[in-house]
Amino acid sequence: MNVKLKNIYDDYFSDYDSKCNQLINNYIQIGNKKTMKALDLGVGDGVNAIYLAKNGYEVFGNDISKVAIKKAEKKFIKNSLHGHFEVKDVRDVEIFESSYDFILCSMVAHYLEKNEVVILVNKIKKGLSPNGIVFFSILSTDDPQYKKNSQNILSKYIKTFMSKKEVLKLFDGLSLMLLQDSMMTACNVPSSIYYDEGNNIMGDIVYIGRKSG
Ligand SMILES: C[S@@+](CC[C@H](N)C(=O)[O-])C[C@H]1O[C@@H](n2cnc3c(N)ncnc32)[C@H](O)[C@@H]1O
Repeated sequence: MNVKLKNIYDDYFSDYDSKCNQLINNYIQIGNKKTMKALDLGVGDGVNAIYLAKNGYEVFGNDISKVAIKKAEKKFIKNSLHGHFEVKDVRDVEIFESSYDFILCSMVAHYLEKNEVVILVNKIKKGLSPNGIVFFSILSTDDPQYKKNSQNILSKYIKTFMSKKEVLKLFDGLSLMLLQDSMMTACNVPSSIYYDEGNNIMGDIVYIGRKSG
């Protein structure tokens, strides 16, 4: 586990509440199964997870930040919802085959080495149930900070940037539902954590895809 990155996110979540990613709304499956399961890898403070839970999903989430997990748990209790949360590195999470109707991996993968992203995405693809949907985002090679020496507090922990072409290739075998630039700009993330000293937002790619039935 990357202890320093964990500490940054512990501090961050101590005084910041994330905003739900509106894109998820459009792709939530209101399922015909009795229990829809969702896995949120790098769940943060549960801002997206709670949205899934409110829409009937049984939610599983993990994160390296203990503070984030505590906040997610509190959020669920406050809303009389039940979730399964764990302080765990996404690289160590066991993703059972064909088990999840929705898997989220939002703004986490760039903290992994490229080969680790490939391993994780292969696990995600296996873990989706038939017709299951994946929501994945990662910092883009079009990011203003790509290959630059930024002073942003997170920069030294960011290991992987990808192009849209690479992301598409990663999810080979799934049906493409959406591939777009900069979800953070779209969501108007107010926090400074992803801004550099020149106030450029770090840009990401969002991929949404579906496994065949
Ligand atoms: C930008 S936040 C995104 C949180 C949430 N997914 C969202 O979209 O609101 C990045 C999150 O990834 C977590 N994280 C970073 N590296 C991780 C790893 N290797 N395993 C698990 N969580 C990680 C951080 O603690 C933080 O909560």
